[in-house]
Amino acid sequence: MEEESISDNHLTPVVSKLINCIIVLVLLVVVLVVILLIYVPAPKEDVDTKIESPVPDKNGNFTEVAKKAALAEKDTNNYWSAPDITSLDHDKNKDLILYGKDLIVHTYDYFGENGKLFKNNTNGMNCQNCHLEAGTKVFGNNYSAVASTYPKFRARSGAIENIYKRVNDCFERSLNGKALDTTSKEMQGIVAYIKWLGKDVKKGEKPIGSGFKDLVFLDRAADSEKGKTIYSEKCQSCHQADGLGLMNAEKAAYTYPPLWGKNGYNDGAGLYRMSNFAKYVKYNMPLGASHNNPQLSDEEAWDVAAFVNSQTRPKKDIKKDWPKIEEKPFDHPFGPYADGFDEKQHKYGPFKPIKEKLEAMKKVKKTKV
Ligand code: HEC
Ligand code: HEC
Repeated sequence: MEEESISDNHLTPVVSKLINCIIVLVLLVVVLVVILLIYVPAPKEDVDTKIESPVPDKNGNFTEVAKKAALAEKDTNNYWSAPDITSLDHDKNKDLILYGKDLIVHTYDYFGENGKLFKNNTNGMNCQNCHLEAGTKVFGNNYSAVASTYPKFRARSGAIENIYKRVNDCFERSLNGKALDTTSKEMQGIVAYIKWLGKDVKKGEKPIGSGFKDLVFLDRAADSEKGKTIYSEKCQSCHQADGLGLMNAEKAAYTYPPLWGKNGYNDGAGLYRMSNFAKYVKYNMPLGASHNNPQLSDEEAWDVAAFVNSQTRPKKDIKKDWPKIEEKPFDHPFGPYADGFDEKQHKYGPFKPIKEKLEAMKKVKKTKV
């Protein structure tokens, strides 16, 4: 018994020291928690909620990951914009330039069925139907790089082309009509306007946002059956089930231009190439879409291109196009070809193997020279 009481007496101061220590520690922890609560800010609201419109990932799918990536990659590009129209006030060519602009916006009025200048010279479309906002829209097939890059060699004709020739190409193909006399006031006006648009672009340069924005290839052929569904869901309300478009109430010009049929662009036109069509549509259609607010996934753009370009349209004699067959682009839909792929693959894809083959052929040619 004695021994026990001795050890008890020994223990008491140790235990009370321990208890003191624990109390101090608990107090410290409480103080720390209070400090943390006061000074550490509450977590911010999810930044993602700031994105209003969905942005697709590289495969064209709208995912949460794609939204985050798009947010991280802020677009700091300095896109081209058209010169200020008021700067024309002191331009000696003002009237001619404005005439040219009017011809591009209201082409139908001058060259359509009851055209002021020529009746039925075209299919009734306006240049602006494809060169959006009078040829000024970023990635809307604008004219910003025309003045700076023409005259240039074009493999389609195998010759050096000036702007007149290029404008007449669109008259004969996209508008399925007749070429203009290059000395006419109309051609002079159109070219004056196009040159004025590009007047601040350095010779040889293409500003950011010119022409079309690139689009990645699909790993498979574009599928016109799938495209048909997309067309009926996303295009038909304006371009109509028969693809013939819709005239305005006065039957003077299209409210919604035709995509095929007798008044559509012909099979020698730029849009008849799948990549041009898919890029145009991806970043511009349905009406209101833009490069920073696309409405279609990449797959939808390619598939709807396959559907529209499978419909009947006027034919153009293009036997003289691409005099060197090895220079035909990967998506030129008419043979013969130098690369060994057939017409079907050149029309619908998959395009990647064709493009790789063409590039390899070019390299071989270079090393031989
Ligand atoms: C059906 C659509 C369509 C219509 C209508 C159209 N174009 Fe085009 N145009 C295109 C496409 C597509 C290209 C690009 C083709 C390519 O690069 O292969 C193009 C290219 C051009 C270019 C060359 C652009 C460059 O940067 O190289 C000029 C100039 C042009 N068009 C003028 C006109 C004019 C003027 C009109 C009206 C008379 C017109 N286009 C009507 C589709 C159209
Ligand atoms: C809300 C109406 C509307 C919808 C929906 C729409 N478009 Fe368009 N589309 C237009 C208009 C209007 C133009 C001419 C633009 C201009 O002149 O400014 C046009 C022009 C075009 C052109 C070039 C001109 C031509 O006729 O060849 C193509 C190609 C085209 N659209 C394809 C499509 C496709 C494919 C879809 C569906 C994915 C689509 N559009 C959905 C209204 C629409």
